[in-house]
Amino acid sequence: YDVEYHDRIGSTNDRARELAEEGVDDVVVVADEQTGGRGRLDREWAAPAGGVWASPVLRPERPPAEVPIYTLAAAVAVTRAAREVGVEATIKWPNDVLVNDGDGEERKLAGILTEMEGEADRVSWLVLGIGVNANVDRDALPPGATSLRAAVGDVDRRRFLQGILEALYDLTGADADLRAVLDAWREYASTLGRQVRVETPRGTVAGRAVDVRFPGSLVVGTDDGERAVHAGDCEHVR
Ligand code: BTN
Repeated sequence: YDVEYHDRIGSTNDRARELAEEGVDDVVVVADEQTGGRGRLDREWAAPAGGVWASPVLRPERPPAEVPIYTLAAAVAVTRAAREVGVEATIKWPNDVLVNDGDGEERKLAGILTEMEGEADRVSWLVLGIGVNANVDRDALPPGATSLRAAVGDVDRRRFLQGILEALYDLTGADADLRAVLDAWREYASTLGRQVRVETPRGTVAGRAVDVRFPGSLVVGTDDGERAVHAGDCEHVR
């Protein structure tokens, strides 16, 4: 990837989308600080100086329906990079990277915001917005969030991002078997086996998370049998 670096930008995803629309390829937009960071479900994303805020542009020759697997792959890639620096990160479905800070509390270390444009049978561009609370104080983050600094101290952000991008390429590059992403995801998941409550666009699904299914749905055992959830906000109930 070519790196387009900004000390400060509104949102790396916005810039990456712009470049993608212009036809630019193989680029990752990176910033030290974002002033208008965006999260999933139209939320704001706090992105103070010191984080890893990065948005690679991908052009996979795959159907838009398979895009969720790329988002899971990004979460796996971040988890691997975190484990490289000694942080026992896990993944909450679909793509929140969590850390147990030692007090039994699971806090959010990283999140992924995927945006894409596609035709009927093929993705035109895909932006995987990766936000890792790296060298930032926990006080600068919302409640329930943590950072690499809080967990293990500051890291070399360039190396950390390099690790993420390499893992992402291993998992999703042209020769990769996308279904293998699910095995890697299962290995790191903290959601499987747990009681969950998922707020979906079509109502709440509560039960025990039993598996993840291609291209990324969560299978939940409910009182009315198994349900596959494609999108939503997942809470670990216990
Ligand atoms: C979430 O968990 O809600 C997703 C957060 C994604 C944040 C990243 S930081 C880099 C990229 N640019 C943005 O504005 N958002 C994503």
